[in-house]
Amino acid sequence: MVPPAATASTSVQGSSQAPASVGSPAAPAVKDPAKDTILTPRFYTTDFDAMAAMDLRPNEAELEAICEEFRKDYNRHHFVRNEEFEGAADKLDPQTRKVFVEFLEQSCTSEFSGFLLYKELSRRIKQKNPLLAECFAHMARDEARHAGFLNKSMADFGLQLDLGFLTANKAYTYFKPKFIFYATYLSEKIGYWRYIAIYRHLEKHPESKIFPIFNFFENWCQDENRHGDFFDALMKAQPDTVRGFTSRLWCRFFLLAVFATMYVRDVARKEFYEALGLDAREYDKEVIIKTNETSARVFPVVLDVQNPRFWVRLERLVHNNEALSAVDAADGPAPIKALRKLPFWAANGLEMAKLFLMAPIRSEAFQPAVR
Ligand SMILES: [Fe+2]
Ligand SMILES: [Fe+2]
Repeated sequence: MVPPAATASTSVQGSSQAPASVGSPAAPAVKDPAKDTILTPRFYTTDFDAMAAMDLRPNEAELEAICEEFRKDYNRHHFVRNEEFEGAADKLDPQTRKVFVEFLEQSCTSEFSGFLLYKELSRRIKQKNPLLAECFAHMARDEARHAGFLNKSMADFGLQLDLGFLTANKAYTYFKPKFIFYATYLSEKIGYWRYIAIYRHLEKHPESKIFPIFNFFENWCQDENRHGDFFDALMKAQPDTVRGFTSRLWCRFFLLAVFATMYVRDVARKEFYEALGLDAREYDKEVIIKTNETSARVFPVVLDVQNPRFWVRLERLVHNNEALSAVDAADGPAPIKALRKLPFWAANGLEMAKLFLMAPIRSEAFQPAVR
């Protein structure tokens, strides 16, 4: 399920110019991609014929207006590295360096995953659905910029992700178009809130700005916001995706999956947030509340994130995940490890089911003004 066109020309490996030693910014070592888990960013593929055949007429004017915004390419000159980056990597202590590189890698992978999906979509539907294809091409341009900028920062630490290798070797998850809409809408909007929350925090606490890349987050997150608005308009052009009983169930499922995954992952690497002077739990809570609120503009239902039980249950997932990591880290044969993990997997399943069954909030009640 690897999109063939995406495999060819995307390698942005570091130069191999002779005298620089491997692992230096001049000749970064190619970093092995992080092990795939349920918490690492995913690569997606979809039904391209169904996307090409999509009728945009119910919301064509809004999509055309969004495409016009994309054409303006507001951030064309934004992602230019300046002298602040020189020597910045050397100022980080080894522990901060480790968690920061993980952050860069995870962010670069998820930006790149967006690039691959949008690029392939624009290529495959170009003939039959030119407006949609053009929007995807503009978004692919933005994501390529974001991924490239993050990868250059990795090079400051003497590392670089081999994006060509990732393209060809990572497993692709197939989603029907409407599931692509839910998943990418949420990842764009949550990306917006994540970047802007860090940016605003560092504006107030410049002493915690551990690397100059954070200076770029304000304009960067506007790209993600526009991408999210595009999927909002696209879902409104396909109203059945956000109407009816089944859609309400799926929206709840995707909101929960995205929020729970982020919470568990961020708490597990809370040291990164501590390095920025943030508390991972507080930060995630803010991002989840904001994303949930934004989602009510298009999803028919959102989650009751003001309910204290929601957070108690997320904490149980964190606890189970820590237990699972402890089993992984211990010695022992794989079948025994799997047996020891079983109760924690079951407990996670049960907590997710309880979270899913919590009464949602109808969006009309939540965002009456914008609906
Ligand atoms: Fe992006
Ligand atoms: Fe994006």
